[in-house]
Parts: sequence; C-alpha cells; structure tokens
Amino acid sequence: MMKLLVLNGPNLNLLGVREPGVYGSDSYEAVCKRIAERAEKLQIEVDFAQSNSEGGLIDRLHACMGAYDGVILNAGAYTHYSYAIRDAIAAIRLPVVEVHLSNIHAREEFRHTSVIAPVCRGQIAGFGPASYLLALQAFAEMAAEAE
Ligand code: DQA
Repeated sequence: MMKLLVLNGPNLNLLGVREPGVYGSDSYEAVCKRIAERAEKLQIEVDFAQSNSEGGLIDRLHACMGAYDGVILNAGAYTHYSYAIRDAIAAIRLPVVEVHLSNIHAREEFRHTSVIAPVCRGQIAGFGPASYLLALQAFAEMAAEAE
C-alpha cells in the first residue's frame, strides 16, 4: 500500500479561523479528516504533520526518506522564498506534490512565485481543501501509470 505524508506549513494549523474568506471555514482537523477518508477509498495510507517553522518542515521532509512513498506539501508562505525547503525536497528524492488551498497565481504578486515548484512533481492550487484530494488522486494516477 502506498504511504504518503501530508505536510502542512506555517499558519495552516489555524485553518477555519484564519482569513476564512480566502482559506475557507473548515478547521485543520476537518480538512485532515476529509483527506484521510479519501485516502482510505483510494487505498493510500496517510500520516499528517504540521510545523510553523522552516527547520521543522525540513526535519519532517528528511524523515520521509525510507518511510514514505511521497509527500503532499503545503509549505504556506515558505513556498515563495524558502530555498532551504526547496533544497530539502530535491535532497530526499521522493515525489512531492505542492498544494495550495488558494489560487496563488490570482493573488498578490509575491505569491505568484513558488521556489519549490521546480523540484516538485507538480502543483495543485485554488480548489480549497479539495486541492489535497486532487493531490491524492495525482499519486493514485502516478502509481497506476507506473504499473
Ligand atoms: C497557501 C498560500 C500561501 O501564499 C500562504 O502563505 C499560505 C497558504 C495556500 O494554501 O493557499 O499560508 O499555501
């Protein structure tokens, strides 16, 4: 069974409370529950982790080596400027799918750049919590194609 880590970055623990007009009213726990339910249907094992710090996210990414088949990553604002997270993604040699709840390309200029995108397998943005479900689907498609 494929095993994935769903890794969320800074401020995503405040989902539901934080700018609900942008990020929706579902809590972090509710979003994780929805992801877990979909993963079960797709026969994918998922674990969840969240960190508000750059080093915390990097440590989590390193620990994925040998433990997971891939990562669904919402790096939050680090997406836009963390070369250290970009290097960690490149280092672990696992497929990482970048997700965002909001459409970062339709927002402020500074959000249009993702420094992690070039080292990710792909990017899904703009579908609210469903962005994570689409990322699960992407992993299921990749596995089917590799068969
Ligand atoms: C986000 C978009 C980022 O620009 C922002 O800093 C976040 C959340 C999203 O999921 O839409 O924290 O990654």
